[in-house]
Amino acid sequence: MELKNDDIIEICQKYLPIFEKNVANIGYELKGICNSEMLLFVSIIQYFQVKLIIESGRASGYSTKIIAANFNSSNQEIYSIEYLKYTKDSIQSHENLFGYKNLHLIYGDSNKIIPKLINRECCVLIDGPKDDAAIKLAVRIMKNSFVKAVFIHDMDKESNHRTWMERIFKNIFFTDDTSYVNAFKHLDEEMWLELRKHKRDDMYGPYLKNSKHSKSYYHTLALIFNSKDFFDQDAYFSYIKTIKSQKNKWKISFLFENFFGTIKKILQYPKIYFFVELNVDKRNGINFKNFLKKWIKFSGSQVLQIFKKRVPVS
Ligand SMILES: C[S@@+](CC[C@H](N)C(=O)[O-])C[C@H]1O[C@@H](n2cnc3c(N)ncnc32)[C@H](O)[C@@H]1O
Repeated sequence: MELKNDDIIEICQKYLPIFEKNVANIGYELKGICNSEMLLFVSIIQYFQVKLIIESGRASGYSTKIIAANFNSSNQEIYSIEYLKYTKDSIQSHENLFGYKNLHLIYGDSNKIIPKLINRECCVLIDGPKDDAAIKLAVRIMKNSFVKAVFIHDMDKESNHRTWMERIFKNIFFTDDTSYVNAFKHLDEEMWLELRKHKRDDMYGPYLKNSKHSKSYYHTLALIFNSKDFFDQDAYFSYIKTIKSQKNKWKISFLFENFFGTIKKILQYPKIYFFVELNVDKRNGINFKNFLKKWIKFSGSQVLQIFKKRVPVS
């Protein structure tokens, strides 16, 4: 059965009181997915009654905590995957998420880990990787019929990927739907206050992104339902063709601007270039020989980077 926008909102309305109770004591963390968006994820899991929940992109674990607080029964398994292990965020996530017995915190690349985890009906939230890497991952895992729905974060109306998603996926819903926003925006009040504390009130707010008016309420969570023919193959192939040609252009400009650009700067203004670099390095106790070594190593790694299949995520 295909769910219409009104059905989705009704499902969320039904789960809203329990959600509000479960998240009442969870303080908002910067970078976290907002509560009105998380309500959609949690409600659809309830609707499908899946016992396996997978999250990709944990950072300091705000979204993970919301999931864990809503699904803590022993017959539900939550797997949360994060790429970066030795970071402040990762330490904080372990502090934030201590004590949830059915929650597994995994490190590594979701592209490799998620396909191996899917062994029964599940819902998957992708909040890293982003953009085209997220769309490609979604298409790959949705070929497995155990996947009931995939959610991708950061799909506001201004993003180029949004247009492609609307073309590629047949049954899709976005949290910037006006009726959805009006029904659930009250869940985000604490988040706006928290953002204001960090002097970001002029930059971010409802329908405000980087101090400019935005067509979307906020970052926006996309919900894609799975079915036998969940995507339009022709649209997907032309999307892949487009991103491949964009990547090739990017690699060439990267090579010219970053690598040859630096060499050009050195040749044009050798004194200024070395003076600036040396002063920066002197502060760090690096001598001229080490500086040259560092520069050769850095330039080499930059060139290697562009030949890598996947560009590392931020
Ligand atoms: C925006 S943050 C996640 C925020 C988190 N969901 C929350 O609401 O608090 C994105 C995270 O995704 C991680 N990430 C990016 N690509 C990834 C990949 N291929 N596999 C696993 N994690 C990835 C990044 O390291 C980053 O910590």
